[in-house]
Amino acid sequence: IMRKNIVAGNWKMNNDLKATKKLVKKIRKSLKKSDLKDTRVIIAPTFVNLATAVKRSKKSKLEVAAQNMHQAKNGAFTGEVSAEMLRSIGVKTVILGHSERRAYFGETDELLAEKVNAALANKLEVIFCFGEELADRKAGKEEAVVESQIKNALFHLEAEAFKKIVLAYEPVWAIGTGETASPEQAQDMHAFIRKTLADKYGSDVANSVSILYGGSVKPANAKEIFSKPDVDGGLIGGAALKAEDFSAIINAF
Ligand code: G3H
Repeated sequence: IMRKNIVAGNWKMNNDLKATKKLVKKIRKSLKKSDLKDTRVIIAPTFVNLATAVKRSKKSKLEVAAQNMHQAKNGAFTGEVSAEMLRSIGVKTVILGHSERRAYFGETDELLAEKVNAALANKLEVIFCFGEELADRKAGKEEAVVESQIKNALFHLEAEAFKKIVLAYEPVWAIGTGETASPEQAQDMHAFIRKTLADKYGSDVANSVSILYGGSVKPANAKEIFSKPDVDGGLIGGAALKAEDFSAIINAF
């Protein structure tokens, strides 16, 4: 399998400048100690601290991602940040479609398709998030929901574009709740996602895309989740805010 393992920390709206510097330093230190040839490690601080995080991650294997971006090139969009701006400070990856963006900021599949296009046009890699809500799972609709989220936002792309796409399956009921999907639930959904990709783009593309799991991943459960064949890593929220926990999760591979 040619795909990479990835552990990405989504800091959400946490960590001011000082805390950012401190956490980057701690993560760098712990990365030095571990042997992680095959795992990419990414952090996603808030916009205002991205440039600092990029600078302070230089000459380490730590990569820096943004948590969001606007789809337009530039213009009268007060408070927004473009792909080009991210690119210009050395950010190479952007998280799009996080369930909090969908739920609190009204981001739709249609908008996300535009954001994905803008990111790719600026050579940014996309960590594309999606996942069902609890009611969907209770109704047995989790696969249908996930399939439509992926199709609506990504299936207009050419196969080639998937070299720059990482998928992150985050069941909404598992985010920040302490309730993790079981390793089997994660594996089942990841296998379904890979099959959905294979049906559209063929198995080479499907097998080359990293699919991350997100939702209450912590040191105690990371190993079991990451051991599943179609789980290529995690998108970590709460546990990414503590260097010790984040390192333990990275080293769970
Ligand atoms: O982006 C990260 C996810 O929302 C997971 O958050 O690990 O705090 O549940 P969590």
